[in-house]
Amino acid sequence: MRARGGHAAALACAALLCGCPGEPETKIVDATAAEHGAALFRDPSVAGTTFNAYTCATCHEARPGEAGDALLPGAPLAGAVDRPFYWGGQEADLLGAINHCLYYFMRRDEPWTADDGDAQAMYAFLESLPGDGALTEAAAFTPVYTLSDPPPGDAGEGERLYERGCASCHGQAHSGEQRLVNSAPVMPEEWLEDHPPSEYTELERRLVFVEKVRHGSFVGYGGQMPPFSLEVLSDQELGDLLAFLLP
Ligand code: HEC
Ligand code: HEC
Repeated sequence: MRARGGHAAALACAALLCGCPGEPETKIVDATAAEHGAALFRDPSVAGTTFNAYTCATCHEARPGEAGDALLPGAPLAGAVDRPFYWGGQEADLLGAINHCLYYFMRRDEPWTADDGDAQAMYAFLESLPGDGALTEAAAFTPVYTLSDPPPGDAGEGERLYERGCASCHGQAHSGEQRLVNSAPVMPEEWLEDHPPSEYTELERRLVFVEKVRHGSFVGYGGQMPPFSLEVLSDQELGDLLAFLLP
């Protein structure tokens, strides 16, 4: 069998070689490709456009726990090569799952194909991730479509959540210091300027906020922000964020 003939071939290898539970695992991992993939995971140029500032690590841990208490919108990727489906069942193919991120969040024009060198390197990296804590079942991902006003929250808790989940892109609250993408508004000031009391009631404003966090760039909203699922951020935590940002 040819190793690394392409993404599809690599998938087939993984399935054939690591099939039966109890048998010792034999994995073909091309160290050089895996190392290249590891570098790509933390490199914004993976998207092939200077308009992108994100890396895969902006939104995903490779190994669970490596990003400390950061609240990341994407699932940890150790074990992803073995998962039965992706994006909560909306995508069956690993390459397709990655291409959604490259296209919707990282502004890449052309999807990776199975014989793209970078795609193969990324696959080799993901396959090389150790089994400790790796999630080989489908990752839970429940997008929230129906919007409602979250319960009243705790501002202190909201501040911590903001630092763990929002500051990576939006920068520090009030100043925007260390902001990753200039299009992400300084919270809450710049955002409030765009949603003035003359145009929005307080409830409408809260709901627009909830809509953005829940839908990200999807469901007609557009942009480059990832959606936060129910697993990543509960409605109570959304209430905490609102108590901090829009008291
Ligand atoms: C701006 C945030 C963001 C960036 C950048 C990003 N992703 Fe994602 N990714 C997500 C979200 C949100 C999901 C959907 C939730 C989930 O299933 O993890 C997702 C899903 C995935 C999945 C499916 C996981 C699963 O089990 O359902 C894979 C694989 C993946 N991304 C790989 C990558 C790779 C590789 C990169 C870098 C080339 C990348 N992502 C960049 C946010 C991002
Ligand atoms: C991976 C980067 C990233 C993360 C993480 C992120 N945002 Fe954003 N956010 C953006 C970008 C970029 C925009 C500008 C609009 C767009 O491109 O989607 C934005 C816009 C917004 C807006 C304004 C939407 C509008 O229409 O004016 C709100 C509100 C918001 N984000 C809240 C949050 C909150 C709360 C969190 C943390 C739970 C968060 N964001 C995490 C990137 C991010």
